[in-house]
Amino acid sequence: MTDMIEVAGVSKAFGGVQANRDVSLRVPPGKITGLIGPNGSGKTTLFNSIVGYHPIDEGSIRFEGREISRLRVPQIARLGLLRTFQQTRIYSKMDCVQNMLISVPHREAGWRTMFTPFQPELVEKAEHLLEFVGLYAKRRLISGDLSFGQQKLLEFAMALMNEPKVLLLDEPTAGINPTLINGLIDRLKRANEEFGITLFVIEHNMRVIMNLAENIYCLAHGELLAEGPPGEIQNDQRVIDAYLGAH
Ligand SMILES: Nc1ncnc2c1ncn2[C@@H]1O[C@H](COP(=O)(O)OP(=O)(O)OP(=O)(O)O)[C@@H](O)[C@H]1O
Ligand SMILES: [Mg+2]
Repeated sequence: MTDMIEVAGVSKAFGGVQANRDVSLRVPPGKITGLIGPNGSGKTTLFNSIVGYHPIDEGSIRFEGREISRLRVPQIARLGLLRTFQQTRIYSKMDCVQNMLISVPHREAGWRTMFTPFQPELVEKAEHLLEFVGLYAKRRLISGDLSFGQQKLLEFAMALMNEPKVLLLDEPTAGINPTLINGLIDRLKRANEEFGITLFVIEHNMRVIMNLAENIYCLAHGELLAEGPPGEIQNDQRVIDAYLGAH
């Protein structure tokens, strides 16, 4: 089966900093794939390259077999490839439902949604997804008043609103209370299994990523260091030396 994402020989530098060097990896359909590595190893840069946030210097990025490395964010989003951010990006003066509604333009609706925000079927869908992430009771609360963890859940729900084929999650559990993390893992798995969304997840929390991902890639200094299923990655001496040893 064609991979959802195929990154081949991708390099990206910022001035003198080589953030990614000759990175190749695959995200197969219907699975959860992990991306780990020390701070500054180039994980977020790779996500930014995949979603068209900046041009790459070298290499190829394919989405369902189609070259996308020259497309920009909105074009790639329309194909069904979305990401969430390490720092949440919500509209803090709007309530949760409003945030959900204005997140739709990524896909088919266009900016007209912004001006006709009361389409009942969209409101219903928004409320259903807010319930899915456990925010139904807070749906009319100004989102800036939500806790950081709740804002991350809202951002996840906003991405689901667009029915992505593939969702890139940049540290979904960072800053989330340990007691809520299991609930989040459960929701990510359900989004994968019930909604059929392929997930590509950056995580520093090893318990989370070992539990979630079927296959994990590890970056170090911008280069791919290792790849394998959780059990193998955990015992890979290169990964232990470069990353896990410090945890
Ligand atoms: N827009 C930018 N301009 C200049 N340098 C950048 C830019 N974005 C990233 N970098 C640099 O590229 C390198 C990789 O950064 P990146 O954010 O991809 O790392 P990361 O693996 O996501 O780290 P973390 O785990 O801390 O989030 C770092 O040295 C960083 O300073
Ligand atoms: Mg990062």
